[in-house]
Parts: sequence; structure tokens; C-alpha cells
Amino acid sequence: MNAQIDNLLTETRRFEPTPEFVAQANADETLYARAQADRLGFWADQARELISWQRPFTSVLNWENPPFAKWFEDGTLNVAYNCLDRHVEAGNGDRIALYWEGEPGDTRAISYAELTDEVKRAANVLTDLGVRAGDRVAIYLPMIPEAIVSMLAVARLGAVHSVIFGGFSADSIRARVDDAAATLIITADGGYRKGKVSPLKPAVDAALEARGDLPTQQTVRNVLVVGRGGNQIEWTEGRDHWWHERVPAASSVHEPEAFPAENPLFILYTSGTTGAPKGILHTSGGYLTQAAYTHRNVFDIHPETDVYWCTADVGWITGHTYVTYGPLANGATQVLYEGTPDSPNPGRWWELIEKYRVSVFYTAPTAIRAAMKLGRKIPKRSDLSSIRLLGSVGEPINPEAWMWYRKVIGGKTAPIVDTWWQTETGAIMISALPGVTVTKPGSAQVPLPGIEVSVLEENGTPVPPGSGGLLAITEPWPSMLRGIWGDPDRFRETYWSTFPNAYFAGDGARLDADGDVWLLGRVDDVMNVSGHRLSTAEIESALVAHPFVAESAVVGATDETTGQAVVAFVILKESQAEETADHAAVSAALKSHVSTLIGPIARPRDIFVVAELPKTRSGKIMRRLLRDLAEGREVGDTTTLADTTVMRIISADVAAR
Ligand code: WT7
Repeated sequence: MNAQIDNLLTETRRFEPTPEFVAQANADETLYARAQADRLGFWADQARELISWQRPFTSVLNWENPPFAKWFEDGTLNVAYNCLDRHVEAGNGDRIALYWEGEPGDTRAISYAELTDEVKRAANVLTDLGVRAGDRVAIYLPMIPEAIVSMLAVARLGAVHSVIFGGFSADSIRARVDDAAATLIITADGGYRKGKVSPLKPAVDAALEARGDLPTQQTVRNVLVVGRGGNQIEWTEGRDHWWHERVPAASSVHEPEAFPAENPLFILYTSGTTGAPKGILHTSGGYLTQAAYTHRNVFDIHPETDVYWCTADVGWITGHTYVTYGPLANGATQVLYEGTPDSPNPGRWWELIEKYRVSVFYTAPTAIRAAMKLGRKIPKRSDLSSIRLLGSVGEPINPEAWMWYRKVIGGKTAPIVDTWWQTETGAIMISALPGVTVTKPGSAQVPLPGIEVSVLEENGTPVPPGSGGLLAITEPWPSMLRGIWGDPDRFRETYWSTFPNAYFAGDGARLDADGDVWLLGRVDDVMNVSGHRLSTAEIESALVAHPFVAESAVVGATDETTGQAVVAFVILKESQAEETADHAAVSAALKSHVSTLIGPIARPRDIFVVAELPKTRSGKIMRRLLRDLAEGREVGDTTTLADTTVMRIISADVAAR
């Protein structure tokens, strides 16, 4: 990793904001000064300026019982009102909230007035289906307007949504629905992906099927189904309800009730270092404040003129904060696209930018690298001159991809904001501010005004400029996670036990001589594949759940397009020797097994059948050595292995493939 770091630190290209951009930018230097002078006062100002409170708060931060923060705790608000009704009341009801484009090319333009109306009807339907404040509602939908309507309808009732990415399997749905004890699931028959209908409801049905002593059915009473794919589905009378029969028939009168700022807003599951995904809990007032503040300043949003497009699925945190809550709280106009970037042709995204005159575009490095691989001819076929600002998120963006993005998509002038944050942080934490920061390709650069981060040695002392260490957040922030659903101990242990008074993000980072932050990837057993977090432990447990497998070790290996790729090493059971003689067939079977158990994103790129795994004397798998093998490097220091000959055996197994 050191060679890579040094390489990055010799990056000398710098890009000043243009005077035209500076002149119109939302952000300026004074933000830093205000936050520096009075951090809590600064956040209180943001909360008052950007959010409408039903009862104004007097307390900004209650940090009496760390790490359990309470922001704006005596204030009350309705999150959906903030994203909808107030824009209509301010006379902006006719402004387009969503330009939705289905993958087959069908479209809907939905104004703020229409979206408000639809959310009110949906809220009434959810009430009829028994949803009350505090109840959990699971949402398993494609990227269709109903996904946003559902989230906001749940929020409007003071209930808690748990959005499950549409690529997850029945088992993943079951685990999430059970953990949150959801009473309702909102899904669709199917959605379009790569030119075909990809079914969704069958996975929900399978998740709800009684199996052994698994308890799912005990909590889920209703399933609300959007008709999108037109695919054949099964129907459970009394439990299943069509959206198109219920929502349009419901009343569009719905008074938003105000809830305390700390009322839970959503749970979003993310992979940790152990097998079971963690339910990251976010609440209302602080989350919405930081979502709106970052969306406004990092993306320089001018709601009257900008057309914004964040390509993330609402099943991830990026979709929660920068598709649903941030843009709608700010009254912005955005594009929502159902399908994949390459359907029906590899220029689809760029065609959409031209069609809707997108001015602010936010995507992930993996997508940029994939586009780069296909060549500039494809984006050059579209008129991208509307673009004035570009964003990147999910993993470090390598300087060459950064330069390509700027040149080919950004017309050589658009500033790029490389935004570092996590499911847990709720909103952007480290990023350039467009119009203020001189940008550096490859560096996320500086904490936003109001955010305090440090790069620390393992013993908690800050590293000197030019050195690497662990990224920590040293002061609470409004959109911070409030905990792990149902597991306060795991919350403390995972994030607050590495350093005495700081949040540990799990990322390695380095400070350069200017004090800019360069992210170096995870330092724990978490992989980053296409900007999505996957746990080595979760995939390992999926593998050993297969009857062939005795033991497994999973590593994230560098991959040109996806950043990292899942590479698995498995030891097969002696008892299965006959069934597993053909290793190519075993590998194929195990790949689809992981895909079925977790979801296609977790599917290993390579599976190696080996006779041994490298372990320390205390039995810990040395993934570092396996990563060397997976990346085709010479194997590093093996002296701490219990049996130092083992790597030779494994190398031979891998070479034999
Ligand atoms: C992890 C969080 C936040 C939305 C997407 C992923 C990595 C995220 C960057 C960036 C370098 C980044 C980190 C982080 N990451 N953004 N701009 N530069 N690394 O959310 O699934 O919660 O994953 O993604 O490793 O810890 P997530």
C-alpha cells in the first residue's frame, strides 16, 4: 500500500474554481469561519435556516451520555412536510420534483404538488394498514417514484423505514425484516434491469414463507405491491394489496403531525466485520439538517435552475440522503432512472444528461472507470454542456479517473467534489466545497465546516502531515448514527472503543503537507466492491453454509473496474471428495450459492479450492497473505504463521488452476 500512497502524494495537479463559479456559489470561506468560531451555533443556524420546525428547538446538542447523541432534542418537525408541503405552500408546487425515466423509456414528470398529493394518499393507506408512529416498514422496490413516495409516507407518519436494496436475496430480506420486526413490506411485482423484468415480489414471498423455526411471518401483516413489471406473481389474499387499487382511491388530505427531532426516521442495514449486517439507525432533525446543508453546499444546488442527478439506488445510504431527503428538503429538481447505465446502450446515462439538461451529476468511481474503459466516443455522442458540477462517492477515485471525469463529462471546467462519508455518518463529512476549495485529483481533501476529523495513530495521537493513520471523527455531528438497531453494545464496541473520545470510521487515511485527507480504504475486514460495502465474514459464512465447504476465507482483491473484487479460498469437506472432484464445477456452484444467499453483488469473482488456509498461532486467518495471492503478488512476510510451509501449498493450489 505504501507505494500506492507515495504515488498519490506526488499528485501535483491543482484546479482553482473559476471566477464565474465563485460568483454564483452557495458556499464561501465564511462558512469555515462561522463553524470555527462556534460549531454548535453554526449547526443551530443551519437547522433554523434549512428546516421548518413545528416547535423550535432550544437545545442544540445533548452529549451527556456519549456515544448516544441528541441533536435539537426539544424541537419537533415532520420530515415529509419539510420535503413536500412547505415547497407547495411557498408557491413552488409546479416545480418538477422528479423527472423519472423507466428503463424501457417510459417517463413521468412529477411536480412537488403532485408528489405531496401522492405521499398524502399513501400515508392514508399505510394508516389503514395499521402503520403507526414508531412501527417499522420494509421497502423493497425498484427505482420508481413509488420508492420515494413510500419512504416519505412512512416518514410522514413518524414510522421507521428500512429500505432493502432490490438486488438482495430472500434470505437477506428475511434477516432484515426479522431484525427490525417490520409489520408491512412495500414491494413491486418486478422492475426493469438490463432490458428484462427482474422479479421482486417472489423474493418477498420466499422471505415470508415459514421455514423451520424462523419467525418472519409473526410480524409482517401486510404486503403492498406496486405493479411495475407486469410479471406473473403469486397472491396471498388478505395479506397482499395492490398499490394501484389502494393509493389512488385514498384521500389526499393528510395533516402532518410533528414528531420530536430524535424520532427514528430509518434503519439501513450495512455489512460489518462480523456475519450479521448491522441496522444503522438514523433519526429526524439532525439527519435532515445535515442532509440539506451538505446537498446545498457541496452540490451548490440552486433549486430554481439546477437539474440534479444522483445515480445511486435508494437501497443505499447515498440514495436515502442524496436522492430522497437532501434534494427534496431543498426543493430541488432531480432525475430518477430505473435501470442500468448500459441499457439499452452504453450511452444511456449521457443521453439522459442531454435530455434533461442535468447540471449537477453525482456518481461512483466504479461507474466512471467502466465508462472510461468503453472510451470517450460514447459520452461524446451526447451534449453534456449542461453539466456544471460533478460528484464522486463510494471509494477513493484514482487521479486518472478523476481527470477523465473532469475532461470528458465535465467539459474541462466542472469542479469535482470527492465526497467521503458512510452509512453511519448519514451525510457527507469530507469534501471540497465548490467555489471555495482548490481541488486535487484523488483526495477527498477537507472536513466540511462543522465537522471535526483527525488522522490518528493507533494510540490515539494525531499523525504528522505526510503520514498515514486511522480516520477518526472527533466531535459529534448532526446526522450521525444514533446506534445499531437493538444492539447498543455493538454500537459502542464497533465505533467507539478504538479511541477513547472519537468515532472510528474503519478507514485508513493519510494527511498531505497541506493537511488534505487522502482515503486509503478499509483497515478492517470489510470490502468495497463497486462502492458497496461487503463483509468478508458474511460471505465466508455463506460459503460454509454450503454442504461442500469445510472452511473458507474471503478477501477483497484490487479490481480495475469494481475497485475491489471478492476472492474466496475454500477447503472442501473430505466426505464430499467424490461430488467435488471437478473444481471448476465446484467454483461455479459456490458462486451462484453466494449470489442466492446474499445477492448478486456478493458473488465472488474467483473461488480457489485449496488444501490449507494461512493462520496465526492463535488461529486468525492471515488475509494479507491471501490478498497477495489473489492480486498475483509475491507473498509477504509469513513468519507469524503457525505453519510457515502452508503458503507454499496454497500457492501451488492456486497456480494449478
Ligand atoms: C465506506 C462507506 C457513503 C456512501 C457510499 C458508501 C468508502 C465512501 C469514499 C470516498 C474514499 C470512500 C469508505 C467508507 N468511501 N466514500 N469519497 N473516498 N472512500 O457507503 O457502504 O457505508 O461505505 O465507503 O471506505 O468507510 P458505505
